[in-house]
Amino acid sequence: MTVLIQARGLRKSFGPTDALRGIDLDIQRGEVVAVMGPSGSGKSSLLHCLAGVVLPDSGTVSVGGTVITALSEARRSALRLKEFGFVFQFGQLLPDLTAVDNVTIPLLLGGMKRRQALTAARGWLDRLGLEVAADQLPGELSGGEAQRVAIARALVTQPSVLFADEPTGSLDSLAAENVLTAMLELVRKAGTTLVMITHDPRTAAYADREIIVRDGQLAATDRVGIK
Ligand SMILES: Nc1ncnc2c1ncn2[C@@H]1O[C@H](COP(=O)(O)OP(=O)(O)OP(=O)(O)O)[C@@H](O)[C@H]1O
Ligand SMILES: [Mg+2]
Repeated sequence: MTVLIQARGLRKSFGPTDALRGIDLDIQRGEVVAVMGPSGSGKSSLLHCLAGVVLPDSGTVSVGGTVITALSEARRSALRLKEFGFVFQFGQLLPDLTAVDNVTIPLLLGGMKRRQALTAARGWLDRLGLEVAADQLPGELSGGEAQRVAIARALVTQPSVLFADEPTGSLDSLAAENVLTAMLELVRKAGTTLVMITHDPRTAAYADREIIVRDGQLAATDRVGIK
């Protein structure tokens, strides 16, 4: 096993709020990690720091040996586009674009030709059981379908890491289960590292490891072995 993401001494404050208060974390390549903890404990802040969306006030994050906290914003966004996929709770699809057009966006941003991007996007929608939904607008999709489109869009660039912030949080339990199993199947098949925030212990049980964030710090659980 090799460490893909290494965080050391992460601290982040928003005004008077200490969101992260010294986090050390290693995530292995291909590992599926569930991040749990109370509301406001710092889970999203941690995810944003690991993904280079937000810079910590102090501490470092390296991904594949690159210290991303030392990169310029431009380089960090280029790295995010190439190496990372993101899935959020809801509301992330562009409402005026069809499902397939939504999925092409990261490819077009990466410079791929539209025709090729459309083919790739349809392939990922098929893999997520969404061939019928491809030409529909997000408003015409169920919540579970919309989340699967968002997952297709996050995976279409074949990222090395998928970051998911409560990807099934807005869904009923059956839809959540379907979305989760589809995402995990693809992630496991591709060897993608997955860092997934969830409030649901049943969702977390799909992970290789659960970590708990409390008051901006990691609480070791008996499944946390690697530091
Ligand atoms: N951009 C911001 N500006 C101000 N305060 C923020 C910001 N982002 C986070 N915080 C604060 O930092 C703390 C941690 O927030 P964070 O969003 O990381 O928690 P969380 O564990 O993801 O919570 P939830 O489960 O509710 O999503 C909270 O007190 C929050 O209010
Ligand atoms: Mg959050």
